[in-house]
Amino acid sequence: MSDPSATVRFVLDGCTIEIADPPPTETLLQCLRDRLGRHGVKEGCAEGDCGACTVVLGELHAGQVDYRAVNACIRLLPTVDGREVVTAESLSAADAPLHPVQQAMVDCHASQCGFCTPGFVMSLFALWLAHPDADREAVLDALSGNLCRCTGYRPIIDAGLMMGRLPEPDRWSRADAQSPERRDRLTALKRSDTLQLSTDAGFAAPRSVDELAQVLESQPQALVLAGGTDVGLWVTKQLRELPFIVYLGEVAELRQILAQPDGLHIGAAVPLSEAFAALVEAWPELRELAQRFASLPVCNSGTLCGNIANGSPIGDSMPALLALGAELELRRGERVRRLALDAFYLGYRRTALEPGEFVAAVQVPARRPGQSLRAWKVSKRFDQDISAVCMAVQLEARDGVVSRVRIGCGGMAAIPKRATHAEAALTGRTLSPAAIDDAVRALSSDFSPMSDMRASAGYRLEVAGNLLRRLALDSHAQDATGARAALTARGDRPLRLDDVSAD
Ligand code: FAD
Ligand code: FES
Ligand code: FES
Repeated sequence: MSDPSATVRFVLDGCTIEIADPPPTETLLQCLRDRLGRHGVKEGCAEGDCGACTVVLGELHAGQVDYRAVNACIRLLPTVDGREVVTAESLSAADAPLHPVQQAMVDCHASQCGFCTPGFVMSLFALWLAHPDADREAVLDALSGNLCRCTGYRPIIDAGLMMGRLPEPDRWSRADAQSPERRDRLTALKRSDTLQLSTDAGFAAPRSVDELAQVLESQPQALVLAGGTDVGLWVTKQLRELPFIVYLGEVAELRQILAQPDGLHIGAAVPLSEAFAALVEAWPELRELAQRFASLPVCNSGTLCGNIANGSPIGDSMPALLALGAELELRRGERVRRLALDAFYLGYRRTALEPGEFVAAVQVPARRPGQSLRAWKVSKRFDQDISAVCMAVQLEARDGVVSRVRIGCGGMAAIPKRATHAEAALTGRTLSPAAIDDAVRALSSDFSPMSDMRASAGYRLEVAGNLLRRLALDSHAQDATGARAALTARGDRPLRLDDVSAD
C-alpha cells in the first residue's frame, strides 16, 4: 500500500484519485491527459496564456465549496491535493443532456475547430456557478485568459450571456455543486499530516506557519512555491531542474486577509483575485489595474506576495504597493521582521530575503482622509499583457498644495522603484504646468530605462512623463474653503479646464 503522506489525492467526478509519490513538477495537465485520459483538457501554450487547459478547482472553505478556473498547464499536481478537479468532460455524460454552458456554446455557434472550446466552457462554467446573472462585463472578465483562433469572440460572448437563461441541469446544477456529498468527499480528503513527496528533489506542504518556517530554516536552499504562475513556466518552458520545493498554499494562517485599523494584512497564500478584491474595496482607483493583471485563471492561482517576491522589474502590483507605502512581514525561523517594500529590492531580481526567509504577508496602510491614488498600466493589449511601463501615484494635498506624494514605477529600472526625484519636484507645490515639467525632467535622474522588445528607453521615459502630465490633468486640488475634496480620483469623467491650478 502506498504511503498516504506521499500520495496526492483529489476528487474527479465523484471518485478519489490517488497518485503515489508523483514527480513534484508534474503538472495537473500532464496528470489529467497522460495518467487519466482526459484529452478534452488541451495543451496550447503551456504557459498560462491561451486558456486551452482551463479546468475548475473546488476547494472547501467555511463549509462551502469554492470553485475557480485555473490553468492546468502551469499548476503543479501536488498543489491540487485535497481539492476537486472539474473538466469539460465532467459536465455531462454521453447519454445526458449538455450542461447549459455547453448548450449555449452550441446554440450560439461558438465553436469551430473546437481546440479552445473546453477551456472556454470551463471559464464560463466557473462564472455560471458564481454569477447566475453575469453581464457582458463579467463575461469578458471571465474569458480574459481564453484565446480562440478561429470562431471569433462574439458568439462565445453571446453564449456567456445566454447560459444563465437556460434551465438548471440535473448534473452540476448550482445545488449539486454545493451538495452534502461533494462537501463530504472533500472533508474526507482533509489532511492532518503533511504531504511530503520524495521523487526528484522532493516536495513538502507544511500545514502551519511555524512548520513552514522550520522547514525553510533547516533547508534554506529550498524553493518556496506559492501559486506557481511564475515557477510553473520555469518547469514547462525553461525545463529547469528544481530543488526541494516547499509549498505554502496549505498554511491556513497565510490564506487570510485581515482588515485592521492600520490597514490591510494580506497573507502569502492569498490568491491575486482575492487580494485585488480587498485592495480595490479600499482603493477603487486600482480597479482597472486589477482587471488588467494577467487573466482570471492566473489570478486564481498566483499570489500577491509571489508577485512581490518574484521581484520582476515589470511586476504590476509593486508600483501601486510602493505608492501606497506597503510593508512586508518577513519570517525566518522564529524571527519576524517588518521591511518597507521600497527597501526590499536590491538589484535585478535580488531581494533583501535572507536564506531560509520568506514573505509571510504584505501590509498596506489604511487610507487617510485627503489621499488619492492613480495607477496606469501601459501595454499593447488591455487583457493579459506585459507592461511596458506601470506607474502609480499616491497624493496628499492641503489647500491644493501637495504635502506628500509617492510615485511607484515598473518597467523603468532593474527593480520596481520609486521616483524620488520626481516626488521631490512636486512636494510643496500645486500641480501646475511648471511643477509637472520639473517632475518630468526629474524622471531622468530617477531612471535610465532599458530598451527591449516591449519598448525603447526613450519611449519609456516619455510615457512616464506623460503619465505625470495626465496626473495633473486628471487631478484637482482642494480649494481654499475646503468645499471640494482633496485630490480625488475621478474615474473616466471628461477633463475640465480648472483641473490644473497655477503656481
Ligand atoms: P510563484 O510562481 O509560486 O513564485 C514566484 C517566485 O516567488 C519564486 O521564486 C518563489 O520562490 C517566490 N515566492 C513566492 N511566494 C513567496 C513567499 N511568500 N516568500 C518568498 N518567496 C516567494 N505578473 C504581473 O505582474 N502582471 C501581469 O499582468 C502578469 N500576467 C501574467 C500572465 C500569465 C499568463 C502568467 C503565467 C503570469 C503572469 N504574471 C503577471 C506573473 C505571475 O502571475 C505573478 O508574478 C504572480 O503574482 C506570481 O505569484 P505566484 O504565487 O504564482 O508565485
Ligand atoms: Fe495555454 Fe495552459 S495550455 S494556458
Ligand atoms: Fe478553433 Fe477556437 S474554435 S481555436
